[in-house]
Amino acid sequence: MDFKNLIAHCKEYGFVFQSSEIYDGLSAVYDYGPYGVELKNNIKSYWWKSMVQMHENIVGLDSAIFMHPKTWKASGHVDAFNDPLVDNKDSKKRYRADQLIEGYAEKIEAKTVKDVEKAKTRFGDAFDEKQFRETNDRIIERQKQIEAVLLRLSTAMGAGDMDELKNMIEDYEIVCPESGSRNWTEVRQFNLMFNTQLGNIAGEEGKLYLRPETAQGIFVNFLNVQKSTRQKIPFGIAQIGKAFRNEIVARQFIFRMREFEQMEMQFFVRPGSEMEWYDYWKQSRLNWHKALGTDASKLRFHDHANLAHYANAAVDIEYDFPFGFRELEGIHSRTDFDLSQHQALSGKKLQYFDPEMNENYVPYVVETSIGCDRMFLAMIANSLQEENVPDAEGADSLRTVMKLHPALAPVKVAILPLLKNKEELTKAASEIYDKLKLSFNCQYDEKDAIGRRYRRQDAIGTPYCVTVDFETLENDTVTIRDRDTMEQHRVKISEINNEVEDKVKMENLL
Ligand code: GAP
Repeated sequence: MDFKNLIAHCKEYGFVFQSSEIYDGLSAVYDYGPYGVELKNNIKSYWWKSMVQMHENIVGLDSAIFMHPKTWKASGHVDAFNDPLVDNKDSKKRYRADQLIEGYAEKIEAKTVKDVEKAKTRFGDAFDEKQFRETNDRIIERQKQIEAVLLRLSTAMGAGDMDELKNMIEDYEIVCPESGSRNWTEVRQFNLMFNTQLGNIAGEEGKLYLRPETAQGIFVNFLNVQKSTRQKIPFGIAQIGKAFRNEIVARQFIFRMREFEQMEMQFFVRPGSEMEWYDYWKQSRLNWHKALGTDASKLRFHDHANLAHYANAAVDIEYDFPFGFRELEGIHSRTDFDLSQHQALSGKKLQYFDPEMNENYVPYVVETSIGCDRMFLAMIANSLQEENVPDAEGADSLRTVMKLHPALAPVKVAILPLLKNKEELTKAASEIYDKLKLSFNCQYDEKDAIGRRYRRQDAIGTPYCVTVDFETLENDTVTIRDRDTMEQHRVKISEINNEVEDKVKMENLL
């Protein structure tokens, strides 16, 4: 399904709404509707169970959003958490300079894609894309151009050279997508942290930040957690919570938001063993994604060319979103940067006594960090499909179905009396609903023809529909319909719970 329809589906079926929509919305802020909140909670639960519950040496935390302002000085966010910003003087629109330049490179690639498409049509089955790309002079030339642009960009970004970014915009004659003009301001650094003021302290002293990552709450609590749980290194601390970033350009629905949720885990290890753990978590996190049945060709690793100020190795797990491969999760080897910085600024020791080595040291950290909202978007994009299926008369009809992993589905089972105006059916269905709701998130629906009710459940990803018909009244059986195959079979009412449980339990993923 294309991206526009996906967004419309999310609204129509109560997954995601634009924040403050009645006031024309607040850009890059979203609310999760009744089915959205269930899906999001299930994603969080899968993450929490697999990271915390399944690891004896990983414990949880829920730290506050507000932290002492020195935290962000120590972490480097006050000085270095910036994006390069440029304004177009005619349209008054603001852009990220690096994204404008990347867009320029993407346009060159788009020409190649067009050429490839044309050649495909011309040569038919005999067409070999790899060979075509490697031998066509125009394409080779363009590829060199792209590589040169990206190298120049990464060098400028690495050096924080704003003048060079402006030179690039001018050299490549990049125009404003809105006004079409090249009337640009200088490129300047823009700090992404939101700030606010503590009630009783005026000025800089009382300046508070909304955390731009949850990780720092873990770092400053490192010793509290280690001492209270008597964990030995290697061990991890995990947390799920809100983070805030004043993104300059926030597009692509819930992919880049100003308020979002992160699921982060910091794994504290002996200095020198960090690369071993980095490789371990890289694989472990990829397996977590694959367990959901996500097509392996839609996931890939992408090593960072420019490392953040705190990292000695970093990789993204990218997902093939409807707008291309983008970062879904980051795995970073953060060295002892954060703990050492907090130690220096707070004057408090943040060291671990290693009984085996008989030595004190500041541990190294390997971090796994995934955006809950991005995971949500990946799961919707991965599962939402339109397919032709036979209707009641056997003719082709289009159905929209969300083939979510059953453990993530917002509603596990829908209970549907065949007819709404037959009290014996609605009564029996209500009784089944009242029992099943103790175990699962269920829905009772008696409105409209049964076919339409099935389609409504397909559209929100419900794995099972239970239909109560006249035979139910005779022999205590119901039909149970599978979302994906649309096949139905009869089961005893007493067996519904086990059958649903077998399919939807989180254990299937762990
Ligand atoms: N503690 C490390 C850290 O925050 P990051 O790569 O900046 O690293 C981690 O962010 C993850 O958080 C990303 O992989 C992404 O899934 C999510 N994320 C970051 N910025 C986001 C935004 N503006 N909107 C939604 N998700 C975001």
